[in-house]
Amino acid sequence: MKRIVILTGAGISAESGLKTFRDSDGLWEGYNIEDVATPQAWQRNPQLVQDFYNMRRKDVLAAQPNAAHYALAKLEEQFNVTIITQNIDDLHERAGSTNVVHLHGIITRSQSSINPELTYPIEGWELKMNEVCELGSPLRAHVVWFGEDVPMIEYAAKICADAELFILSGTSLAVYPAAGLIHYVRSGVKKYIVDPNIPAVRRLTNVVEIQTKATIGIPDLVEELMLNKY
Ligand code: APR
Repeated sequence: MKRIVILTGAGISAESGLKTFRDSDGLWEGYNIEDVATPQAWQRNPQLVQDFYNMRRKDVLAAQPNAAHYALAKLEEQFNVTIITQNIDDLHERAGSTNVVHLHGIITRSQSSINPELTYPIEGWELKMNEVCELGSPLRAHVVWFGEDVPMIEYAAKICADAELFILSGTSLAVYPAAGLIHYVRSGVKKYIVDPNIPAVRRLTNVVEIQTKATIGIPDLVEELMLNKY
């Protein structure tokens, strides 16, 4: 089966009611990254950071996958599919996708504040400050903060290098190293971009721009790919 790789960002979950980061009214308009999404923020005011991610978790648990998530899950009927997502929600999985790489972690799990490899499922929406890992350190959200390593990046780069078809949707490509992944996709490979605001992708060849929302553009594209039986 042909290998399709899809790189997604916050925009794919926007129509599920989860805010993006950099659109107008995006999350980073209401919060300073330095206050809630860095190791220094956790040192300074862990409760504020915990509260921020507790709110994100509450929103994610209340949200439902949308037509774009479901269409991407359907692709597995005919293709070898890997979704690489920058999103910390679990909507791809809840829509039925079975092969999802979470570059920036996942909000439904917690992580030891001294060993990032120790992660645990979270019951419900709230992670409390008195909950600790097996080493006795407080638990934080299992997300990658600004200034932290992205442990999955090399694996993701290899997946992109092996792609035979590539789809990019719902990301402004503002954050590295995730944004650099598109350059691992071979030049001869067809690359579809589905976004109402197509991000700048200089030096990229074989690009098809589909300038529309994910819930419209992705189901249409999936239908076309499945009919053409690549
Ligand atoms: N359908 C498709 N795309 C959409 C939609 C939609 N309905 N609505 C908005 N978008 C697009 C925007 O045009 C933009 O290109 O989604 C993108 C959102 O970009 P960002 O807010 O920058 O989100 P993302 O690229 O996922 O951010 C990357 O930044 O703060 C960090 O760790 C966080 O993983 C996140 C990373």
